[in-house]
Amino acid sequence: MSASPLTQVDQDFWNDGALLEACLREPVPRIPPHFGYDALGSELFEAITALPTYTLTRAERGLLERCAADIAARMDTAHLVELGSGSARKTRLLLAECLRLRPTTYLPVDVSREMLEGSAADLVAALPGLSVHGLWGRYEAGLAALRDLVGGDPVVVAFLGSNIGNTTPAERAALIGAVAAALEPGDGFLVSVDLVKPAADMERCYNDPPGHDAFRRFRLNHLTHLNERFGADFRLDRFEPRAHAVGPVVEGHLHVAEDHRVTLPALDLRLDLPAGSTVNVGFSAKFRPDVVAAEVTPHGLVPEAEWVDPGLAYGIFLFRRVRQAR
Ligand SMILES: C[S@@+](CC[C@H](N)C(=O)[O-])C[C@H]1O[C@@H](n2cnc3c(N)ncnc32)[C@H](O)[C@@H]1O
Repeated sequence: MSASPLTQVDQDFWNDGALLEACLREPVPRIPPHFGYDALGSELFEAITALPTYTLTRAERGLLERCAADIAARMDTAHLVELGSGSARKTRLLLAECLRLRPTTYLPVDVSREMLEGSAADLVAALPGLSVHGLWGRYEAGLAALRDLVGGDPVVVAFLGSNIGNTTPAERAALIGAVAAALEPGDGFLVSVDLVKPAADMERCYNDPPGHDAFRRFRLNHLTHLNERFGADFRLDRFEPRAHAVGPVVEGHLHVAEDHRVTLPALDLRLDLPAGSTVNVGFSAKFRPDVVAAEVTPHGLVPEAEWVDPGLAYGIFLFRRVRQAR
């Protein structure tokens, strides 16, 4: 069997020091989320999804097991693009239903080449007849490359796994705007989100339960990645990973245990991190269904269908592009 095609859509994005420097210079220094997904980080994220307290993956899987046939029928497309596809294990449920209805091409977009290659091999083995074309790079680059690959055919762009919550509100508005700009009238946007729940439940979900260390290793790996890529000298033993809820957002932080001066020679940057300060390694925003619609509809996308399970505290929403993006 020949390997599925993979196109690099984003040149040298791992070395985008300008973005990293801007985020590290914010009042609370921040590492942009995609730096968490080098090969090891991608594996560690998979370990997180298996934690007994990490409810999202099982909630989305449960909802898809019930609703994938209906979603596939409503999507009505031969081209499914997924932003931040990761292992695509849950997406497989949806793709299987798409394939029952029509020949289907899946275009996953991800910064993790290892995940794109591994998931493509798994998918074509599991779903005979499925075409997979991986787009290696960041979301915006995948969206920009889309039309060259699908021409004028209708597409649905999916953002599953509540990935859309791994953004600041401004980043999210820009990203939804980029999705809308890539869509033609009639195209769809399928987005799934974890619903808002009590702060204690959200914090339990984003911290390691006793006897596990997947979150700890995933968060510290951001520093290892920067040490390797930018010649930084973060000392991992000076940081304590912990997540806490701030309103509807869970923030993952590395708490600085004692004063730490860090240099990133490749960026000619020095960071002074006093004891008690933190480095942010990720937002996970939670949503009410009306908030999802309020954030998406200003971009010329109208709600078409939704599959919301209050018991699972999870929702999947389909929007349709009706007019020019603003
Ligand atoms: C939280 S994981 C979710 C994976 C999968 N959607 C799931 O539900 O299991 C986020 C995924 O998005 C990818 N990712 C993160 N930031 C990205 C970016 N800016 N552009 C492209 N991919 C990104 C990561 O490599 C990772 O595979």
